[in-house]
Amino acid sequence: MAASHLVAKTTEIAEDEAKRVTVGDQQIAIFNLDGTFYATDDVCTHAYASLSEGYIEDGCVECPLHAGLFDIKTGKAKGVPVVEDIKTFPVRVEGEDIYVEV
Ligand code: FES
Repeated sequence: MAASHLVAKTTEIAEDEAKRVTVGDQQIAIFNLDGTFYATDDVCTHAYASLSEGYIEDGCVECPLHAGLFDIKTGKAKGVPVVEDIKTFPVRVEGEDIYVEV
């Protein structure tokens, strides 16, 4: 069952940046797109790479390892070599606190 987890402060993640957080045994990337926060799996579906260390542009994150592209809002795989989508998680912001439903 999904539960709400406090994972970060809004002040820790600048616009068009990301932060990796851990919830249980899951690595999750929190992205700030123009002041709105989104959460996805941090680990790329192609090989082992951390998407929170990727390059963010136009609402997408480019994997730092082989430049696979994912839509941050939907998790959709957008460019080779990635074919499998990443999971996304609902985010709730209360004041400066960012909660993720996992
Ligand atoms: Fe992400 Fe290869 S590990 S594109």
